[in-house]
Amino acid sequence: MNTMRQKMVAGNWKQNGDQALVKTMQDGLSKLAFNGVEVVVCPPFPYLGAFEAKGFKLGAQNLSLHDSGAHTGEVSGSMLKEVGCQYVIVGHSERRADNSEDNDVVAQKVQQALAAGLTPVLCFGESEQVRDSGQLFDFIQSQLEPVIALIGVARLAETVLAYEPIWAIGTGRTATPEQAQEVHQFVRSYIAEKDASVAANLTILYGGSVKADNAELLFAQPDIDGGLIGGASLKLDDFVAICQAAE
Ligand code: 13P
Repeated sequence: MNTMRQKMVAGNWKQNGDQALVKTMQDGLSKLAFNGVEVVVCPPFPYLGAFEAKGFKLGAQNLSLHDSGAHTGEVSGSMLKEVGCQYVIVGHSERRADNSEDNDVVAQKVQQALAAGLTPVLCFGESEQVRDSGQLFDFIQSQLEPVIALIGVARLAETVLAYEPIWAIGTGRTATPEQAQEVHQFVRSYIAEKDASVAANLTILYGGSVKADNAELLFAQPDIDGGLIGGASLKLDDFVAICQAAE
């Protein structure tokens, strides 16, 4: 089953990087080819237009809820598409926390991304508190359900999912391959109850302290199709090693 799915490694720069990093990544990645792996770079908005995505794809980290109009500071899906994006991260836990994006807003942003012809990378994942409370799977389901309710299960085929346990993000406390696989498997079977073929073909990434030295074991899990990488996506060599681990 695993081979049917698109493998992917996406680098989420968050609010990091500069023009020098754009050049390093542009020059470094465009020289390489990653067999069967979709490599995606998601820099901050101002740098999107500076990339010439050759050998890799571009993604944004957020998009507006609105098509256009009086929404100061917002960037629409169609603008992202116009400057060369194919992907957009939606629902990252940092945006849920910093910008009060709830599950309904996240669902609407997924819909906006699809309407603009972008592939949303839908992030979900629990806090340590939720995990400790024993409500893990109910919580994960409650994050995904509003999206499925809004766009329908068939359109999940046009998305990528990313499981990012909050306690593993930027902490160096990577989920073990078994912990990650358990959630990925849950998500895939939850979706399979609604549409088995969508579930079988859906790319589900893991994110949270993925590094060059732990990527291979994570990506070897049957329901983990690649990674969403924060800190390690800011160093060319580390990012390349993670992309190679997905090959
Ligand atoms: P780190 O890889 O820095 O833990 O960040 C993960 C993440 O949030 C990617 O979106």
